Amino acid sequence: MTWVVSPRWAEERRRDPYYRAAQQEGLRSRAAFKLLFLQDRFHLLRPGQRVLDMGAAPGGWSIVARDLVGPRGQVVSVDLRGFEPMEGVTFLRGRVGDPRLLERLGPKPFDVCLSDMAPTVSGNYDVDQARSVELAELAYGLAQQVLVPGGNFAVKVFQGDLTQDLRRKIGSGFERLDVTKPPASREASSEMYLVGRRFRGSVARPAVGREVAPSAPLDPNGAR
Ligand SMILES: C[S@@+](CC[C@H](N)C(=O)[O-])C[C@H]1O[C@@H](n2cnc3c(N)ncnc32)[C@H](O)[C@@H]1O
Repeated sequence: MTWVVSPRWAEERRRDPYYRAAQQEGLRSRAAFKLLFLQDRFHLLRPGQRVLDMGAAPGGWSIVARDLVGPRGQVVSVDLRGFEPMEGVTFLRGRVGDPRLLERLGPKPFDVCLSDMAPTVSGNYDVDQARSVELAELAYGLAQQVLVPGGNFAVKVFQGDLTQDLRRKIGSGFERLDVTKPPASREASSEMYLVGRRFRGSVARPAVGREVAPSAPLDPNGAR
Protein backbone atom coordinates (compact mmCIF):
# COMPACT_ATOMS: atom_id res chain seq x y z
CA MET A 1 0.00 0.00 0.00
CA THR A 2 1.21 3.54 -0.75
CA TRP A 3 0.75 5.87 2.18
CA VAL A 4 0.19 9.54 1.47
CA VAL A 5 1.13 10.29 5.06
CA SER A 6 3.20 7.56 6.67
CA PRO A 7 1.85 6.18 9.97
CA ARG A 8 5.17 7.07 11.61
CA TRP A 9 4.91 10.68 10.52
CA ALA A 10 1.30 10.84 11.73
CA GLU A 11 2.34 9.42 15.10
CA GLU A 12 5.26 11.86 15.41
CA ARG A 13 2.93 14.73 14.62
CA ARG A 14 0.47 13.61 17.29
CA ARG A 15 3.29 13.66 19.84
CA ASP A 16 4.74 16.98 18.69
CA PRO A 17 3.97 19.48 21.48
CA TYR A 18 4.10 22.47 19.10
CA TYR A 19 1.65 20.83 16.72
CA ARG A 20 -0.72 20.03 19.59
CA ALA A 21 -0.43 23.50 21.08
CA ALA A 22 -1.05 25.13 17.68
CA GLN A 23 -4.20 23.05 17.27
CA GLN A 24 -5.43 23.89 20.76
CA GLU A 25 -4.79 27.61 20.31
CA GLY A 26 -6.26 27.85 16.81
CA LEU A 27 -2.94 28.97 15.35
CA ARG A 28 -3.32 27.08 12.04
CA SER A 29 0.31 25.82 12.07
CA ARG A 30 3.11 24.94 14.45
CA ALA A 31 5.18 27.51 12.50
CA ALA A 32 3.33 30.19 14.50
CA PHE A 33 5.61 29.40 17.46
CA LYS A 34 8.66 30.32 15.39
CA LEU A 35 7.37 33.84 14.86
CA LEU A 36 6.41 34.08 18.54
CA PHE A 37 10.00 33.16 19.37
CA LEU A 38 11.42 35.75 16.93
CA GLN A 39 9.11 38.37 18.40
CA ASP A 40 10.10 37.49 21.95
CA ARG A 41 13.78 37.72 21.14
CA PHE A 42 13.93 40.58 18.62
CA HIS A 43 10.72 42.65 19.12
CA LEU A 44 10.13 42.84 15.39
CA LEU A 45 6.48 43.95 15.39
CA ARG A 46 4.61 46.69 17.21
CA PRO A 47 0.95 47.73 17.42
CA GLY A 48 -0.21 49.83 14.48
CA GLN A 49 2.38 48.54 12.01
CA ARG A 50 1.92 47.27 8.46
CA VAL A 51 3.33 43.80 7.91
CA LEU A 52 4.03 41.79 4.76
CA ASP A 53 3.96 38.01 5.37
CA MET A 54 5.54 36.11 2.43
CA GLY A 55 4.88 32.37 2.15
CA ALA A 56 2.00 32.75 4.57
CA ALA A 57 -0.16 29.63 4.07
CA PRO A 58 -1.79 28.10 6.04
CA GLY A 59 -1.58 31.25 8.15
CA GLY A 60 0.12 30.63 11.51
CA TRP A 61 2.45 33.62 11.17
CA SER A 62 -0.36 35.81 9.86
CA ILE A 63 -2.47 35.18 12.98
CA VAL A 64 0.45 36.02 15.25
CA ALA A 65 1.33 39.13 13.21
CA ARG A 66 -2.29 40.30 13.15
CA ASP A 67 -2.61 39.98 16.91
CA LEU A 68 0.69 41.79 17.49
CA VAL A 69 -0.10 44.77 15.26
CA GLY A 70 -3.67 44.97 16.57
CA PRO A 71 -6.68 46.68 15.02
CA ARG A 72 -4.73 49.80 13.94
CA GLY A 73 -2.19 47.68 12.08
CA GLN A 74 -2.44 45.77 8.83
CA VAL A 75 -1.20 42.38 7.67
CA VAL A 76 -0.88 41.52 3.98
CA SER A 77 -0.18 37.85 3.36
CA VAL A 78 1.08 36.32 0.12
CA ASP A 79 1.32 32.68 -0.92
CA LEU A 80 1.28 30.48 -4.00
CA ARG A 81 -1.27 28.31 -2.26
CA GLY A 82 -4.77 29.26 -1.22
CA PHE A 83 -5.44 30.62 2.22
CA GLU A 84 -8.61 30.29 4.24
CA PRO A 85 -9.90 33.84 4.78
CA MET A 86 -8.82 35.33 8.08
CA GLU A 87 -10.36 38.36 9.74
CA GLY A 88 -7.96 41.28 9.83
CA VAL A 89 -5.61 39.83 7.20
CA THR A 90 -5.55 40.69 3.49
CA PHE A 91 -4.51 37.69 1.44
CA LEU A 92 -3.01 37.90 -2.04
CA ARG A 93 -2.55 34.67 -3.93
CA GLY A 94 0.65 35.11 -5.89
CA ARG A 95 4.30 34.32 -6.24
CA VAL A 96 7.09 36.29 -4.60
CA GLY A 97 9.41 36.77 -7.56
CA ASP A 98 6.59 37.72 -9.93
CA PRO A 99 7.21 41.38 -10.87
CA ARG A 100 3.43 42.01 -10.99
CA LEU A 101 3.20 41.41 -7.23
CA LEU A 102 4.79 44.77 -6.44
CA GLU A 103 1.98 46.63 -8.11
CA ARG A 104 -0.65 44.46 -6.43
CA LEU A 105 0.81 45.38 -3.05
CA GLY A 106 0.00 49.03 -3.67
CA PRO A 107 2.15 52.06 -2.94
CA LYS A 108 2.07 52.03 0.86
CA PRO A 109 5.34 50.78 2.38
CA PHE A 110 5.59 48.13 5.09
CA ASP A 111 7.14 48.45 8.55
CA VAL A 112 8.01 44.76 8.74
CA CYS A 113 8.62 42.13 6.03
CA LEU A 114 8.58 38.45 6.99
CA SER A 115 9.31 35.39 4.89
CA ASP A 116 8.76 31.82 5.97
CA MET A 117 8.83 30.68 2.33
CA ALA A 118 10.17 27.22 1.69
CA PRO A 119 10.66 25.25 -1.52
CA THR A 120 8.98 21.92 -2.13
CA VAL A 121 11.65 19.61 -0.82
CA SER A 122 13.19 17.36 -3.47
CA GLY A 123 15.31 15.22 -1.17
CA ASN A 124 18.53 16.44 -2.77
CA TYR A 125 19.95 18.74 -0.11
CA ASP A 126 22.11 20.86 -2.42
CA VAL A 127 19.17 21.51 -4.71
CA ASP A 128 16.82 22.30 -1.82
CA GLN A 129 19.33 24.61 -0.19
CA ALA A 130 19.93 26.49 -3.44
CA ARG A 131 16.16 26.91 -3.87
CA SER A 132 15.75 28.09 -0.32
CA VAL A 133 18.51 30.69 -0.78
CA GLU A 134 16.86 31.79 -4.00
CA LEU A 135 13.55 32.29 -2.15
CA ALA A 136 15.30 34.23 0.62
CA GLU A 137 16.90 36.46 -2.02
CA LEU A 138 13.51 37.05 -3.65
CA ALA A 139 12.05 37.94 -0.25
CA TYR A 140 14.89 40.38 0.41
CA GLY A 141 14.54 41.82 -3.10
CA LEU A 142 10.88 42.58 -2.46
CA ALA A 143 11.59 43.87 1.05
CA GLN A 144 14.13 46.31 -0.39
CA GLN A 145 11.35 47.76 -2.52
CA VAL A 146 8.63 48.00 0.10
CA LEU A 147 10.26 48.28 3.53
CA VAL A 148 10.37 51.63 5.32
CA PRO A 149 13.78 52.93 6.41
CA GLY A 150 14.29 51.62 9.93
CA GLY A 151 11.98 48.63 9.22
CA ASN A 152 12.55 45.02 10.26
CA PHE A 153 12.93 41.84 8.22
CA ALA A 154 13.04 38.11 9.03
CA VAL A 155 13.62 35.35 6.51
CA LYS A 156 13.91 31.58 6.64
CA VAL A 157 16.74 29.81 4.86
CA PHE A 158 18.21 26.31 4.86
CA GLN A 159 21.77 26.34 6.14
CA GLY A 160 24.62 25.48 3.81
CA ASP A 161 27.47 26.77 1.67
CA LEU A 162 25.37 29.45 0.02
CA THR A 163 24.16 31.11 3.21
CA GLN A 164 27.39 33.05 3.91
CA ASP A 165 26.87 35.23 0.85
CA LEU A 166 23.23 35.73 1.69
CA ARG A 167 24.14 36.81 5.22
CA ARG A 168 26.58 39.36 3.85
CA LYS A 169 24.10 40.66 1.33
CA ILE A 170 21.22 41.04 3.79
CA GLY A 171 23.53 42.18 6.58
CA SER A 172 24.69 45.15 4.55
CA GLY A 173 21.08 46.37 4.31
CA PHE A 174 20.43 46.55 8.05
CA GLU A 175 22.03 48.13 11.08
CA ARG A 176 21.93 44.76 12.77
CA LEU A 177 21.69 41.17 11.53
CA ASP A 178 21.10 38.14 13.76
CA VAL A 179 20.95 34.48 12.88
CA THR A 180 18.79 32.18 14.97
CA LYS A 181 17.03 28.82 15.08
CA PRO A 182 13.78 28.84 17.06
CA PRO A 183 13.14 25.90 19.39
CA ALA A 184 10.00 25.07 17.37
CA SER A 185 12.22 24.27 14.35
CA ARG A 186 12.60 20.51 14.28
CA GLU A 187 16.04 19.40 15.39
CA ALA A 188 16.61 17.52 12.15
CA SER A 189 15.66 20.60 10.15
CA SER A 190 18.46 22.70 8.71
CA GLU A 191 16.37 25.84 8.69
CA MET A 192 17.46 29.03 10.35
CA TYR A 193 16.22 32.60 10.32
CA LEU A 194 18.11 35.74 9.38
CA VAL A 195 16.74 38.72 11.25
CA GLY A 196 17.62 42.17 9.99
CA ARG A 197 16.71 45.13 12.13
CA ARG A 198 16.60 48.82 11.20
CA PHE A 199 16.66 48.80 7.41
CA ARG A 200 19.19 51.25 6.03
CA GLY A 201 17.62 51.60 2.60
CA SER A 202 14.97 53.89 1.35
CA VAL A 203 11.80 52.65 -0.28
CA ALA A 204 12.31 52.66 -4.03
CA ARG A 205 8.71 53.65 -4.69
CA PRO A 206 7.09 56.92 -3.71
CA ALA A 207 5.47 56.42 -0.33
CA VAL A 208 3.88 59.84 -0.25
CA GLY A 209 1.25 61.20 -2.58
CA ARG A 210 -0.15 57.83 -3.71
CA GLU A 211 -1.73 56.76 -0.47
CA VAL A 212 -4.22 53.92 -0.78
CA ALA A 213 -7.59 55.05 0.49
CA PRO A 214 -9.27 52.62 2.91
CA SER A 215 -11.97 52.18 0.26
CA ALA A 216 -9.39 50.88 -2.27
CA PRO A 217 -8.59 47.42 -0.93
CA LEU A 218 -5.81 45.27 -2.37
CA ASP A 219 -7.05 42.99 -5.09
CA PRO A 220 -6.64 39.36 -4.00
CA ASN A 221 -6.93 38.12 -7.58
CA GLY A 222 -4.45 40.46 -9.12
CA ALA A 223 -6.92 42.18 -11.44
CA ARG A 224 -6.70 45.95 -11.39
C1 LIG B 1 6.53 26.60 5.70
S1 LIG B 1 5.20 27.16 4.75
C2 LIG B 1 4.76 28.65 5.60
C3 LIG B 1 4.05 28.45 6.90
C4 LIG B 1 3.45 29.74 7.42
N1 LIG B 1 4.47 30.69 7.82
C5 LIG B 1 2.55 29.50 8.60
O1 LIG B 1 2.86 29.99 9.69
O2 LIG B 1 1.50 28.87 8.44
C6 LIG B 1 6.01 27.77 3.31
C7 LIG B 1 5.09 28.42 2.29
O3 LIG B 1 5.89 29.09 1.32
C8 LIG B 1 5.11 29.15 0.14
N2 LIG B 1 5.95 29.57 -0.98
C9 LIG B 1 7.02 28.94 -1.52
N3 LIG B 1 7.53 29.64 -2.55
C10 LIG B 1 6.76 30.78 -2.65
C11 LIG B 1 6.79 31.92 -3.52
N4 LIG B 1 7.73 32.09 -4.47
N5 LIG B 1 5.87 32.88 -3.34
C12 LIG B 1 4.91 32.75 -2.38
N6 LIG B 1 4.84 31.70 -1.53
C13 LIG B 1 5.76 30.73 -1.66
C14 LIG B 1 4.54 27.74 0.03
O4 LIG B 1 3.42 27.71 -0.81
C15 LIG B 1 4.22 27.43 1.50
O5 LIG B 1 2.86 27.68 1.78
